[in-house]
Amino acid sequence: MAHITIFVSGSIAAYKAVYLMRSLQKNGHHVKVAMTKAATKFVGTETFSSLLHEPVLTDLFDHNDGHIAHIEFADWTQLAIVAPASADIIAKMANGIADDAVTSTLLAVHAPTIVVPAMNSHMWEKSATQRNLRLLKSDGYLIMDPVDGQLAEGYAGKGRFPEPELIKEFVEGQLGNHGLLAGKKIVVTAGGTLEYLDPVRFIGNRSSGKMGVAVAQAALSMGAQVTLIAGTMSVAVPSNPHLQIISVKTTEEMLTKVNEQFTDCDALIMAAAIADFKPLHLADQKIKKHPGENEWTLKLETTPDILATMGAKKQSQLVVGFAAETQDLLNNAEHKLASKHADMIVANDVAKACSGFGTDTNQVTILQPGEKPQAWPLMSKAKVAQRLMKLVAQKLGK
Ligand code: PMT
Repeated sequence: MAHITIFVSGSIAAYKAVYLMRSLQKNGHHVKVAMTKAATKFVGTETFSSLLHEPVLTDLFDHNDGHIAHIEFADWTQLAIVAPASADIIAKMANGIADDAVTSTLLAVHAPTIVVPAMNSHMWEKSATQRNLRLLKSDGYLIMDPVDGQLAEGYAGKGRFPEPELIKEFVEGQLGNHGLLAGKKIVVTAGGTLEYLDPVRFIGNRSSGKMGVAVAQAALSMGAQVTLIAGTMSVAVPSNPHLQIISVKTTEEMLTKVNEQFTDCDALIMAAAIADFKPLHLADQKIKKHPGENEWTLKLETTPDILATMGAKKQSQLVVGFAAETQDLLNNAEHKLASKHADMIVANDVAKACSGFGTDTNQVTILQPGEKPQAWPLMSKAKVAQRLMKLVAQKLGK
């Protein structure tokens, strides 16, 4: 179990660091906390210290007993988490400023450091903030991007602190599985594809991209080089120096990009919801409705099956598909495993409220040729992704 220090800075999300600390403690880690003065305006030091049973570091000059507290803290730390990280602390870290207990300790830390920004969306978008984050990334810091959602200011935008459970899973990924996929190239598809009827209309589906992005994040946390082929998505894609993002819209575009990336990859994970049909004719002008016409028939044709195409041409690559079913889950998924020549199918019952499209959780069953199906319990998509990528790493001989 690791020595983890949480550095809390001044953001309304500071109280959520208490939940993060608790869930890391529950996992058996030894946690210490350091807070900036601004952070103490949002949550009291006593909240942390009474749960930690030790004082919180807030002042460089608190100890006059010969201890150099911030250096002791830094040397003790095996993993540092700056959460929430305000725009101010990000700017200071990026420029090596050490003007209080938190920034001085952070400058002395020689352990991997995860930065979890949380701020107003306009502050997040400011070029200075983005420039500072790029500097931190190039210095080797791991950034866990904030999420889109309702902000304290009353409007929606990017800048929300991710749920503490998700941060914990990211942290566990760094600790437990670090390096498990080092040197491997993993291609992940996420989101939905859409098929145009005319210049303004299309057929699509409800995939948010959460499952695919979670898989990409899990693979990154295990040290893989990841290519994310992203269809239409409603979630933000994290930026990471080891992540290449390729955006596509239609099934044909996704096929082209998967095909390009497949040859030199070690594993392909197809979490995208791909249109099985597309309009037989694509109108080049907006289709008009005519008076008296109450019905309109749309003729569809099948799209290429990307998973089956890659399954048929694979050599050493591991090919993993998902199966989204609303009935007869196992039989349908078994059929997909065989007919698409996949090495693994992650079957999810998308009729359940807690699984499938748009949810934060998923309950999946893993199917592999010649093996008994493994039903996993209901978990967050991040956890499903971590477990899935561990299995993929095992299959790749890690
Ligand atoms: O994005 P989220 O909101 O988080 O939702 C996650 C999810 C429900 C989309 C995901 O968990 C999931 O189940 N993805 C697969 C959706 C799907 O298209 O399933 P399918 O049973 O129709 O297809 C089986 C497999 O073949 C899939 O890996 C799919 O990517 C692939 N396929 C399907 C059709 C096609 N023409 N080409 C394909 O490659």
